[in-house]
Amino acid sequence: MVQQNAQVLWNEKVGPSYYRIGIDCRYGYTHVKPGQFVMVRVSGGIDPLLRRPFSIHKPIVRNDRIVGVELLYKVVGKGTRILSGLQQGRHVDILGPLGSAFLLPENAHRIFIVAGGIGVAPLVFLASHLVQSGIDPADCVVFLGGRTKADLLCIDDFKNLHLAVHSSTDDGSAGDQCLVTVPVEFAVADDRPDMIYACGPEEMLKCVVGIARARSIPCQLSIETRMACGMGACLGCAVAAEDMPGRYYHACLDGPVFDSQSIHLED
Ligand SMILES: Cc1cc2nc3c(=O)[nH]c(=O)nc-3n(C[C@H](O)[C@H](O)[C@H](O)COP(=O)(O)OP(=O)(O)OC[C@H]3O[C@@H](n4cnc5c(N)ncnc54)[C@H](O)[C@@H]3O)c2cc1C
Ligand code: FES
Repeated sequence: MVQQNAQVLWNEKVGPSYYRIGIDCRYGYTHVKPGQFVMVRVSGGIDPLLRRPFSIHKPIVRNDRIVGVELLYKVVGKGTRILSGLQQGRHVDILGPLGSAFLLPENAHRIFIVAGGIGVAPLVFLASHLVQSGIDPADCVVFLGGRTKADLLCIDDFKNLHLAVHSSTDDGSAGDQCLVTVPVEFAVADDRPDMIYACGPEEMLKCVVGIARARSIPCQLSIETRMACGMGACLGCAVAAEDMPGRYYHACLDGPVFDSQSIHLED
C-alpha cells in the first residue's frame, strides 16, 4: 500500500451523475487485484477531511505495466461532487491498493456476476481478470440492475469481453422491469453456477446471499460499508462475523470482498 500525490489523467462524465477518473499512480499498483480499493483525498484542505473509498474499476496499463487506476463513481455528496470537478492535470492524494480481492474459484466454470447500480465498479475489472485467467466468456453471465436506464453502466465493457449481459431496471426504461435478483433466481434454478460474485446495495446483497445459500453456491460479495481511515485504525467499518459469533470483521482490512458465509448482513 502506497500513499502518493497522483495526477488526474482524465475525469469524464459518463452519465447523469456518473464519472470515470483516471489517476496516474506510478508506484505500488503492479500487483493490484480486482476487488481492491483506494482511499482518495478529494480536497487539499480540511473539508472534507476524510478520504473517500472507491473500488478499482480498471487498471491503466502502459507497455504491459500497470501505471494507474481508473475509478467509476457516482456523485452522492460533497466529496464526490468535489472529485467530479477535478480537471485533468490536477493532483489527488491517493492511498492504495487496499483490502482483499475476489478469489478466482478452482474448478469453477459457470460464473454469475451480479451488479446493482454503482456496484458494477469493481466487477468490470473482475470480469476481465476471469477471462484472462481462462474462464470461457460463454460460461459467464452478468446481471446488471439499476433504477433507470441511466443507472445501467458498463454494458459495453462486458460485451467487449463477450459476456452475456442481462439488464433490469426498476422503472422498465431498459431491460426487464424487475429487481436484478429476479432473473438471477430464475437463471440459478435453470443452470446452477459454480460461483456468484456480487456488489451493490445491501438489500440486493442479502437477496443474492439467500439465493446462493438455498442452493449451496459459493458466493463472494464486495461490500461498501462506510469507511473513515481504510486501514484498520478507526473501527468505523465493522461487519458482524457469521463464522465467529459476537466478533466483527473490519471491512477495510478483512474485506471489502468477503465470502458470503463469513459475514452477517444486518436486517
Ligand atoms: C470499499 C468501498 C468501495 C467503494 N467503491 C465505490 C465506487 O467504486 N464508486 C462509487 O461511486 N462509490 C464507491 N463507494 C462509496 C463511496 O465511497 C461513497 O459514495 C463516497 O464516500 C461518498 O462520499 P461523499 O462525500 O460524496 O458523500 P457523503 O456526503 O459522505 O454522503 C452522501 C450520501 O451518500 C451516502 N453514503 C456515503 N458513503 C456511502 C457508502 N459507502 N455506502 C452507501 N452510502 C453511502 C451517505 O449516507 C449520504 O446519504 C465505495 C465505498 C467503499 C467502502
Ligand atoms: S475504515 Fe477505519 S477501521 Fe476500517
